[in-house]
Amino acid sequence: MNSQQRAITVPQFTAMKAAGRKITMLTAYDYATARLVDAAEIEGILVGDSLSMVVQGHANTLPVTLEEMIYHAEMVGRAVRHALLVVDMPFPSFHLGVYRAIENAGRILKETRCQAVKLEGGVEQAEVIAGMVSAGIPVMAHCGLCPQSVHQLGGYRVQRDTERLLADALAAQQAGAFGIVLECIPAALAARITAELKIPTIGIGAGSGCDGQILVYHDLLGLTLGRMPRHVKPYAELNRTVLDAVTRYRDDVRQGSFPGPEQTLE
Ligand code: KIV
Repeated sequence: MNSQQRAITVPQFTAMKAAGRKITMLTAYDYATARLVDAAEIEGILVGDSLSMVVQGHANTLPVTLEEMIYHAEMVGRAVRHALLVVDMPFPSFHLGVYRAIENAGRILKETRCQAVKLEGGVEQAEVIAGMVSAGIPVMAHCGLCPQSVHQLGGYRVQRDTERLLADALAAQQAGAFGIVLECIPAALAARITAELKIPTIGIGAGSGCDGQILVYHDLLGLTLGRMPRHVKPYAELNRTVLDAVTRYRDDVRQGSFPGPEQTLE
């Protein structure tokens, strides 16, 4: 395997559904994080446009630019050896026609060592997905709660329109998407979509009936300050650990006990 090849390819990722193997995905936005996530043999790493909120501190995912997504994806791409690497297409990098979408996705693929891109939308993005797939670009779709449409939706709410969500998922599959993220939809509906599709569904706030799950890395580790959405399970409370370590360091320096004899060079 040369250094560009990954253990998990797009066909291997999709084959996990037929094999009945659950798929794990996590976000990563930098080299150090991606090394750790990859070492844990998570099957998919997403450089999500959630970095707009989690890393850049914006109120939503709209401000992050294509250049910034590429900058973060380059760092992640240098770290990943095992996982399938997927990069989010930010708003509005795929809304200005098929040609522009292929051009922008092409840049992401050429500059970041990722294997696939993800974009929000189903029926209304089917033509764009089909165009990108015919250019040889693997596309993961994202249906249900689409955070880039936050203003149109009037907030981050559970999406319950069964007909529309089924149509979106089927349109994405028909257009050639190799997988689909289902965000914040009722568990029974996600299970129904999962049963109807040949491509894997990756859930976030969509219950356990999906073929796989994805979480935001900072949420998983409890690094996020403030209220967590109900679908998040923090597997650690690193915000407390970090705050405690930084506070003890601060106090040690103020009291003159750091550096101590062990950290002092003769
Ligand atoms: O941007 C992101 O992190 C995502 C996941 C939450 C699926 O799209």
